[in-house]
Amino acid sequence: MNTLIVYFSWSGNTEKIAKDIAKKTGGELFRLERQIPYSEDYNTCAYVEAKEEIDKKIRPDVKRPLPDVSRYDKIILAFPIWWYTSPMPVWTFLESYPDWKGKTVYIFANSYTDDPNYFTTSIADAKKSARNADIQPGLFNKDIKKLDRWLAENGFNN
Ligand SMILES: Cc1cc2nc3c(=O)[nH]c(=O)nc-3n(C[C@H](O)[C@H](O)[C@H](O)COP(=O)(O)O)c2cc1C
Repeated sequence: MNTLIVYFSWSGNTEKIAKDIAKKTGGELFRLERQIPYSEDYNTCAYVEAKEEIDKKIRPDVKRPLPDVSRYDKIILAFPIWWYTSPMPVWTFLESYPDWKGKTVYIFANSYTDDPNYFTTSIADAKKSARNADIQPGLFNKDIKKLDRWLAENGFNN
């Protein structure tokens, strides 16, 4: 079974998780990036760039080509929580495909504050963005320590 792991990461935490998942599943890794990179300065990135995007619900251009998701049965989508939900490039990504029918997308998120509402919100937002996808929760924050068990239970054994 083909697995694709798509991740967005600004400061490296999600990248570490995504690489671990790729290693354990043998899946292919794709790094999602904004076309114009976010500032490396936290305040500019968080309070100017990302804040404007979330407030105005801007779908920023992302680097292309994007992966051909039709080649995969299961997609793992990992990102940090930005302003209580997923970063807006994730919305761009999910909306870039007209129909996700038959695809299961597992959401992995991590954030500074351990607030389960972030996970619920980002899953609900992904459902709105990914037309006809079966969006399923993956793991959030400290639950990532259960990764091995989660992968086995969800049929991701390499
Ligand atoms: C633009 C921006 C917005 C953020 N918003 C939140 C937030 O709303 N709640 C929270 O707990 N953490 C927030 N964080 C912290 C990140 O979710 C957290 O540091 C995450 O582990 C970073 O993952 P990364 O290293 O893959 O980028 C934010 C960070 C950035 C840069």
